[in-house]
Amino acid sequence: MSDKRPIGVFDSGIGGLTVLKSLLQYLPHEDYIYLGDTARTPYGNKSAEAVRQYAGQITSFLASQDVKAIVVACNTVSAAAIETVKEKAWPVPVFEVISPLVMQAAHFVKQADSNRVGVLATRRTVRSGQYPKAMSTIVKDDVSVEQIACPIFVELVEEGIWDGPFAKAAVDHYLAAWKADAPDAVLLACTHFPLLKPLIESFLPEAEVMESGPAVSLVVADALDRQERLNESEHIGECQFYCTDTIESFVELAESFLGQPVENIRQLDWKDVPC
Ligand code: DGL
Repeated sequence: MSDKRPIGVFDSGIGGLTVLKSLLQYLPHEDYIYLGDTARTPYGNKSAEAVRQYAGQITSFLASQDVKAIVVACNTVSAAAIETVKEKAWPVPVFEVISPLVMQAAHFVKQADSNRVGVLATRRTVRSGQYPKAMSTIVKDDVSVEQIACPIFVELVEEGIWDGPFAKAAVDHYLAAWKADAPDAVLLACTHFPLLKPLIESFLPEAEVMESGPAVSLVVADALDRQERLNESEHIGECQFYCTDTIESFVELAESFLGQPVENIRQLDWKDVPC
């Protein structure tokens, strides 16, 4: 059996493109609808209630586009609003980004015989405590989870400042506590942060720095395969993009990151979308 319907992917902005890029590598024959809620980014400093409201609205929109699955390419939504997303999406299956990354980290700590994991995330994700909770559920032995909220990273990435002295100063500022003694594994628990990965890796040369995209893509690929819902056609998957603010800056950043033209893009006005 083959299911040719697209996969919905969303984030507060361009960060979720780090997940989309992996999905395009692992599942190149699928079509995708990507929504970046650029008018309301960042989510990480907002209340859990606001994040639930935004995520619910986006999920209703994606479900109305007849997607076969929804990938929540946002840790903040995965941490604060996953039940709302599942409720609005039902019966469409939903994939979040926290457990795949924690599973990968759990595998690493076991192999490396390590007991220290670092988590870099937004304030909302850190406050939710979802990473330490998931880690203690999956890894039975004692692993200490040290979290640092890095809200400015999201702003830098949305501004296209992925390198240079300004971004480096932000990395130095937030990661200072780990300079002399870093955790063995550092999880980029915000989908915006992989764009700063080279800077983070050079600041923490001993640490294994991990991101969500490949981990969640493997989970999605495996689930669709087992359910016989992969797109079996050999065509190269197409992406339809939506953003909720002006498209110019989104297109420029998205093209630069994805390394491909971003042509199918529309600006979505929530006033025109029924809830
Ligand atoms: N990229 C998102 C995350 O993974 C959201 C960041 C934000 O909007 O603050 O948490």
